[in-house]
Amino acid sequence: MNDEFSHRLPGDRHPVTEIARILRVDHAGEYGATRIYQGQLDVLGAGRAAAETRRMAEAEKRHLTRFETLLRERRVRPTALHPLWSVAGYALGVATAVLGERAAMACTVAVEEVIDEHYRVQAEQLVAEDPALREMILSFRDDELAHREAAIAYGATETAGYDLISAGVKTGSRLAIWLSTRF
Ligand SMILES: [Fe+2]
Ligand SMILES: [Fe+2]
Repeated sequence: MNDEFSHRLPGDRHPVTEIARILRVDHAGEYGATRIYQGQLDVLGAGRAAAETRRMAEAEKRHLTRFETLLRERRVRPTALHPLWSVAGYALGVATAVLGERAAMACTVAVEEVIDEHYRVQAEQLVAEDPALREMILSFRDDELAHREAAIAYGATETAGYDLISAGVKTGSRLAIWLSTRF
């Protein structure tokens, strides 16, 4: 066994592999977010909620670009499920926006709450392994929490069926994270 990793227990993952998984799933998540917002914007058209959604979508595009660069630099392959997230993300965006602006915002609250938790766990994993990446993820997490606040300000939690939308979107988001980490 390589000395550098001899302190690791059998079954512990090599940090490079671990970081590749982190980059892959985060890239997938930010891509999915851009697709959700695209679906919502295609339905919402103009108006105040659409303008806010467009601002959030711009942030997701910035996040996505950073992860694209990191995947390239570190030669990490993107998830094989990319085409699925394109369709599923877009469909989720359309479906929630069709229910109304508040339902669209409820989708954002649910997604961001899952991502908050997801990025928090990763930040803990990266303390020793990659402090620079950790800082980036924590700053993205701040953006996601701001999106959550904005969506609540637009009445997300007052939409009819909020609990149902929230539970469904959270389950779907967690499943997407699980799959994108592995495939
Ligand atoms: Fe994001
Ligand atoms: Fe976001």
